[in-house]
Amino acid sequence: MPFRSTQPWPPDAAEPVVVERAEGPGGELVLRAAHAGHYEIISNGTFLMDTRNGESERLLVEAALGGLAGPGGPGRPEGAGVRVLVGGLGVGFTLAEALRHERVAEAAVVEREPAVIGWHREGGPLAPFSRGALADPRVRVHRADLVELLTAGPAAMGGRFDVVCLDIDNGPDWTVTPGNARLYGPEGLAALRRALTGRGRLAVWSAGASPAFEERLRERFAAVDALPVPVPRGEPDMIYLARDLP
Ligand SMILES: C[S@@+](CC[C@H](N)C(=O)[O-])C[C@H]1O[C@@H](n2cnc3c(N)ncnc32)[C@H](O)[C@@H]1O
Repeated sequence: MPFRSTQPWPPDAAEPVVVERAEGPGGELVLRAAHAGHYEIISNGTFLMDTRNGESERLLVEAALGGLAGPGGPGRPEGAGVRVLVGGLGVGFTLAEALRHERVAEAAVVEREPAVIGWHREGGPLAPFSRGALADPRVRVHRADLVELLTAGPAAMGGRFDVVCLDIDNGPDWTVTPGNARLYGPEGLAALRRALTGRGRLAVWSAGASPAFEERLRERFAAVDALPVPVPRGEPDMIYLARDLP
């Protein structure tokens, strides 16, 4: 039974307070309101994402879109806009960043949890952080398991993508649910490669380096970069960027 607090939010509490607790396909999901109007998402008792920073979640888009050849690429008419796939809505930083770029003609966002999508609808607690992205006509929301959708092939999402930004876990070695691990293995990487256009670029977020994942990417893509993003404390976040065209 979903729990929703009757307190007005954000309560700006010194200690985080639970705003909503929901059971979803990936287990228990909790939205907490924290100090200074911020929010935290907890998945099965593990911290998943909050609204405080988001630099590396935005850089995920910059890294992938930045070097994209275009606007017309191989097999695409001159002037055709960029199709972006965002895997994991979270607090919406990555999606909002993609939409900032005028050359992005379509952004498909795949999110497994109905509660997360609801938090971004008009008037929802996370809508200001995704800058109202769900109301943008370029956005297509797929309420689905990304791993299953990718395995079904490009037609399941209306064709291939020029940019794929993946951030559904804390990284390839720290998945939120066991089934997500498939995404970072041979089967998942083959599906990801199939989802990309010829000029396509894949960006994967990770809390920390994953040398084994980087190696698997190098086996499948012509060019791979591992970009560290410094964080205030501890090991840098990592963005893995993979592509076939230079
Ligand atoms: C770390 S958050 C995403 C952060 C996002 N980049 C941002 O800017 O806020 C991960 C999101 O992926 C979703 N997710 C986890 N596993 C998934 C799956 N298999 N398919 C689709 N969404 C998934 C979670 O529910 C969560 O909303």
